Parts: sequence; structure tokens; C-alpha cells
Amino acid sequence: MSLLDAATAVRLNAYVPYSRFQVGAALRTASGTIHVGCNVENVAYPEGTCAEAGAIAAMVAAGETRIAEILVIADSPVPVSPCGGCRQKIAEFAAPEAKVILCNTDGARVETTVADLLPGVFAPTHMDRT
Ligand code: THU
Repeated sequence: MSLLDAATAVRLNAYVPYSRFQVGAALRTASGTIHVGCNVENVAYPEGTCAEAGAIAAMVAAGETRIAEILVIADSPVPVSPCGGCRQKIAEFAAPEAKVILCNTDGARVETTVADLLPGVFAPTHMDRT
């Protein structure tokens, strides 16, 4: 299955009674396995989780920690862009040059990289004096 098909399918499971904005994410790991996630909201709004976070949690739960490529899709006017927190979450598990594919449900698609999405990422080396 393609990342696009996987993200498109899981997006329909998004639990979004508050925003009504369904997001799907699918990532491929270094081993070739695909993990998916959708956004899951909560009446206590800050407790909601993004689609990317769900896919990352599924990957880690399955015993993997390296993202080779990740795709995100939503019904947005332009290809949906991961929030700041998700950019940091993706950077934790992906190389700077790893591909991030942003899509909308009209078929628009933008390819970028982890480094381009999060210049100046907070990295483990920042804690080298601790
Ligand atoms: N959302 C995601 O799941 N991923 C993104 O990349 C952007 C935003 C979710 C969070 C919330 O459930 C809804 O979209 C509106 O912000």
C-alpha cells in the first residue's frame, strides 16, 4: 500500500467532534513497514493529539524508531502542514533529509524535508553540557 492510500484511509477514522478537521498520517520506517495515525480530539481541547503523533506512537509501540518518510493529508485549501510540536516529534525519529509529503484531498502535494520544516531544531547536542 502507498503512504497516500494509507493516510487517506486512516484519516476517515479521525475523532474530531470539535474541529471537524480530519487529518491522516502515514509513515514508512527504515524497515519498510507503514504505520498510520489520525487526530484524536478531546473535550479538554489541549488533550487532543495530532495524526502525526498517532503514527509515531504506533511506530514506537511496534518496536521501531526510524522514520524514512512521512505523509500527511487533510481537506485543506493547500496541502496541510504539520504543527510546530509535530515537527519536533518527527525530527526525533527522522534524519534531517527525510522526506515529508504534505497533501490535501484535492490531490495537491508538496514534498519537503524534516530540516526544511524545522530549521534550528532543538537537538540532543544542545544538552551536551549537562
Ligand atoms: N492536526 C493534525 O492532526 N495534524 C496537523 O498536521 C495539523 C493539525 C489536527 C489537530 C486538531 O485535531 C485539528 O487538526 C485542528 O487543529
